[in-house]
Amino acid sequence: MNVFNKIKSVKGRLEFEGDKSISHRAVILSSLAGGKSFIRNLSIGEDVKSTIGCFEELGVIFKKVSGGLSVEGRGFKGLRKPERTLNCGNSGTTARLISGILACQSFESEISGDDSLSRRPMKRIIDPLRYAGALMDAREDNFLPIRFRISRNIMPRDYTMSVASAQVKSALIFTGLHPEGVSTIRESGITRNHTELMLRLPAVHEGDLKIIKVSKDCYPLAEDYFIPGDISTASFFIVLTLLARDSELIIKNVSLNSTRTGYLSILKEMGGDIRILEIKNLSGEAFGDLHIRSSSLHNVKIGKDLIPQIIDEIPILAVAGAFAEGEFRIDGGKELRVKETDRISAICNNLKQVGVRIDETEEGFCISGRVTKKSGIFESYGDHRIAMATTILSLLLENGGKINNFESIKISNPNFIKQLTKVCR
Ligand code: S3P
Repeated sequence: MNVFNKIKSVKGRLEFEGDKSISHRAVILSSLAGGKSFIRNLSIGEDVKSTIGCFEELGVIFKKVSGGLSVEGRGFKGLRKPERTLNCGNSGTTARLISGILACQSFESEISGDDSLSRRPMKRIIDPLRYAGALMDAREDNFLPIRFRISRNIMPRDYTMSVASAQVKSALIFTGLHPEGVSTIRESGITRNHTELMLRLPAVHEGDLKIIKVSKDCYPLAEDYFIPGDISTASFFIVLTLLARDSELIIKNVSLNSTRTGYLSILKEMGGDIRILEIKNLSGEAFGDLHIRSSSLHNVKIGKDLIPQIIDEIPILAVAGAFAEGEFRIDGGKELRVKETDRISAICNNLKQVGVRIDETEEGFCISGRVTKKSGIFESYGDHRIAMATTILSLLLENGGKINNFESIKISNPNFIKQLTKVCR
């Protein structure tokens, strides 16, 4: 049980390790490419370590060198048959993205994960990969472990996605890098676009549909990557600064990719004083500096269309909602039920501990009464984002809070406490 006391204010400046989503992709693309790539400011979280571990098993050589990670990739179809089951740990991104690659190899393989990952649905990748010709078996046809048999018949396909998921989209893109011919992926909701940007894939928009085309010609080459700071990690510090008194924070070199900054727009709409100081661009990925100041917040209602762009920040937005005026409502968020834990129920159970009036719905929740208690005991359910959101909540409570299973924060940000200590007074 970790104990956190109320803070007085937030002051200072922070710079975060690389964005988790971009880091996974940099590791994957440099593993697929032939020759040496170099990655600066890679995420140090356990999830990205899981991706590195899987590609090590597939013959890729990673070396920590001064200033970053050097990667000796295997080139087109150069991955090696693994000697053991590939362990994706807690990482849905690792499991789903690597599936798009393992489905196309001329060797058999198997992926597994921890208890939480083993409960998460995989049908969403199994169906489209089978449609492209993959031969794969999964527990109950939906869960890890997944076994990939050798398929000599991977075909370019035209696929319309049924779930708004960047993980599924990315798996399909990786599969599309292998066969002769052009694969087309049609996406209706906006999801994070790092894979398309990093592979420089042409995308056109037809009405609400985004159409992505991919072929062997797009196969990655060795590159130098700089990963901007993690914008999802930043969300916890941003909400803390907005809600604490007399507070001011600068965040340097954080990802400002527009498919990820939905929560900044929502917090600004709620009255949050958040300014972008400088915006830069490297290989299509926007990043820059943010300036955040204490604000008094009023609530908003968030509907289905925005959910994929703020999916990871909903736990901390709910904390903001629990201190703000008016009604905070999330609808159309059924994906929250199949994250590292059922985040709808985790948010509701934790906020109820501090007297928040919150009603759970099938696809979201509605907060209609603010925090009334002076302290609380919270449960992370082994979910890093629930652990960090309830930490921020604890730091704002008159008599602080206690968190069970706090150590899950290491999944995305092992430096969370160090960073809090640096800026909290
Ligand atoms: C991610 C996509 C999102 C997100 C996850 C990371 C990615 O999942 O929740 O933390 O890096 O592609 P979905 O694509 O399943 O929504």
